[in-house]
Amino acid sequence: MKLRYFSHSAVQLTTNSGIRILIDPFLDGNPTSPVKSDDVVADYIILTHGHGDHIGDSFAIAKRCNSLFICVNELANYCIAKGFRAHNMHIGGSYNFEFGRVKFTIAHHGSMTDDNYYAGEPAGVIITCDGKSVYHTGDTGLFYDMKLIREMNKINYMLLPIGDNFTMGIEDAVKAVSFVDPDVAIPIHYNTFPIIQADPNEFKLGCEKIKKYCRILHYGEEIEL
Ligand code: NI
Ligand code: MN
Repeated sequence: MKLRYFSHSAVQLTTNSGIRILIDPFLDGNPTSPVKSDDVVADYIILTHGHGDHIGDSFAIAKRCNSLFICVNELANYCIAKGFRAHNMHIGGSYNFEFGRVKFTIAHHGSMTDDNYYAGEPAGVIITCDGKSVYHTGDTGLFYDMKLIREMNKINYMLLPIGDNFTMGIEDAVKAVSFVDPDVAIPIHYNTFPIIQADPNEFKLGCEKIKKYCRILHYGEEIEL
């Protein structure tokens, strides 16, 4: 499986069989993404919550690609009400899709959409595919149950916010890495806007102090997992 980081929380997974999964594709209104919505293709779109910087360009992409949304029930129903296809799930639940397994976790945050619809609880998501697991925490503060997430799921790659203000900042994010104990920690949700400025190298140093490996991805960079 390949992972491409666009910036902010926007990520693309491409499976070995060529299935493309977008997570939180905020591209056109995102000043740091080198890739715009017309340039991506998605068979599936996973949304962690209803905020505009996560729904992003989902609808334009889904319209062009006939993508299937995967999200918590209320947000899935919101997508369906907008005329799209969705697979409704909820926190704690897993489902085996053609590409692999998707499991939603808790996240401590909000989830109202930009047009003021309640989109259910915000979530994190664990995707297991091609023998690797990716935990995208979504927008969240630090929470102690991350230890339980680790106990129940071996996590290879953890993508977590470090930008502070709306989510964990660096210090809390390093603690989150210690709780989840991934093979690789990847910082997200920083430097997109002035209010979430953070130095990813400071996060990396924090990870090194607890003997955890951090990989900082450049905007648009794709890595093999
Ligand atoms: Ni948010
Ligand atoms: Mn956000």
